[in-house]
Amino acid sequence: MAVVDASLVYAPLSLILTTNMLAGLAAALCASLLLSSSQAAGPLPIRPDGASYSRSSEGVRLSFRAEHDTRDQDAVFVPTFVQNELNGLLKKYAQAMSLLHNVTGITPPNVDSTQTGGVTQQLPLYPPTSSVVERQAMGLFNYNHDVLYYGPASVGNPPQTLDIIPDTGSADLWFLSGCASSKAKQFFPPASITYGRTASDFDVSYGDGYASGMLAQDTVSVAALSVDHQYFGVVDEISTSLSNYPSSGVLGLGFGTISQSKTNTFFENLMVARKLPSALFSISLAPASSRGKSELCLGCVNQQKFSGEIVWLPLQSRTWWTVPMTGMAVDTIGVVPLGLIAAIDSGTSQIYVPMAHATEFYSRINGSQPAPQYGPGYWTFPCDSSANLNVTIIFDAVPFDIDPQDFNLGKTAPNSNQCVGGVFGFPDDLPSNFAIIGAGFLKSWYAIFDHSDSGRVGLARSTARQARAVPFASGHFN
Ligand SMILES: *[C@@H]1O[C@H](CO)[C@@H](O)[C@H](O)[C@H]1NC(C)=O
Ligand SMILES: *[C@@H]1O[C@H](CO)[C@@H](O)[C@H](O)[C@H]1NC(C)=O
Ligand SMILES: *[C@@H]1O[C@H](CO)[C@@H](O)[C@H](O)[C@H]1NC(C)=O
Repeated sequence: MAVVDASLVYAPLSLILTTNMLAGLAAALCASLLLSSSQAAGPLPIRPDGASYSRSSEGVRLSFRAEHDTRDQDAVFVPTFVQNELNGLLKKYAQAMSLLHNVTGITPPNVDSTQTGGVTQQLPLYPPTSSVVERQAMGLFNYNHDVLYYGPASVGNPPQTLDIIPDTGSADLWFLSGCASSKAKQFFPPASITYGRTASDFDVSYGDGYASGMLAQDTVSVAALSVDHQYFGVVDEISTSLSNYPSSGVLGLGFGTISQSKTNTFFENLMVARKLPSALFSISLAPASSRGKSELCLGCVNQQKFSGEIVWLPLQSRTWWTVPMTGMAVDTIGVVPLGLIAAIDSGTSQIYVPMAHATEFYSRINGSQPAPQYGPGYWTFPCDSSANLNVTIIFDAVPFDIDPQDFNLGKTAPNSNQCVGGVFGFPDDLPSNFAIIGAGFLKSWYAIFDHSDSGRVGLARSTARQARAVPFASGHFN
């Protein structure tokens, strides 16, 4: 099949791309998990297959809370993961400043996204019994109570199956290969007869570290959908070692305009090759407490994963999946009007807004206070109001509430009645009109990412949210 020469497609933006584009995720995967031994106590993560990981000498703590039961809202918040994520985000979105200022409106689509009828197309809904599942769906593991979602892809001939993170907040595909510090399975190029190395480096740098490798090409498949000669990074060198992440790479699902490798994404190549019934994909991130199954559906919409109407939001630019964020609210009275551009990011766990807006937001919650012990951008609020707070994100004037369980990240200390809020402020390094909306939101809302015409994001109430266990025995906090 044909691979589009992406350098033609992306010429206007290529000047402002730097090697930093991928750094945030590289840091999150391989390097930023070096934690002090004081944070290493506690049970080890459980693998999807039920086995547990061995503890490295450095130790890891990949959890939001000190106990591994998200239903236990008494568990103490552990800041390490969020601290790492926030640091990584500053790198992951390092180009947001120039890209979002420079990209006004919608840049021309790089593929014929109207091929299936554009936004007037009939939604490719499928019922659970359909063979669409085998053909187009990537089932996702929920790692360590909502910290990370990843699923199987295969690369090479014969195919090597590796678990990767579907990430709408980036646009490069890469696999670990020879990253000695990682315990995750890695790609072994010599075993693939179709592997092709390129002369291009695949370098990313972040802070005082770096990850590097080569840009390569090979057959890549998700479910039964495959792309020959797909470009991806083979990350074989990482400056700081030790990662107990179970995943072996990232599947960038943003627009190729922001890719570090300046190539079409895997999904864009599927569209170009007309391998999809529809130019959209859908993501269901189920909270662990729901025991629901998470899924990436390529070219399809799983009607079992949502209920009610789909609300469609207009895309702001073909970079990240950006939609207008017009406000945030606590119940109906504490509305904070905003004029932000929000990136819907399946590869990020929390919700991040500019510091000034986070301050404004928490001022609407009685008893909230900054929590500088974790760093700037953290707030706490009274745990006993947790179950009753109705926090909503307002997109394009429509409010979308988030499950109170996802807003409460745990207590500050075993005997404290202050709990850490799941909305964080980021510093001036990112644009003051930008927001990053991660799994803390997507666990409540099924999301459809549609390339058609000028692009749009659809949100509908997630059935996994409705199915989740109620954490609070009645009167638990009262
Ligand atoms: C827009 O992009 C150009 C490079 O193409 C860059 O020099 C400029 O700083 C960017 N604008 C903003 C506001 O960042
Ligand atoms: C906050 O406290 C004030 C005064 O005690 C009260 O009027 C208001 O309803 C409270 N707001 C919320 C959201 O509980
Ligand atoms: C929270 O607010 C939203 C939007 O205003 C509303 O639709 C929803 O019913 C509210 N939820 C609760 C539990 O009050």
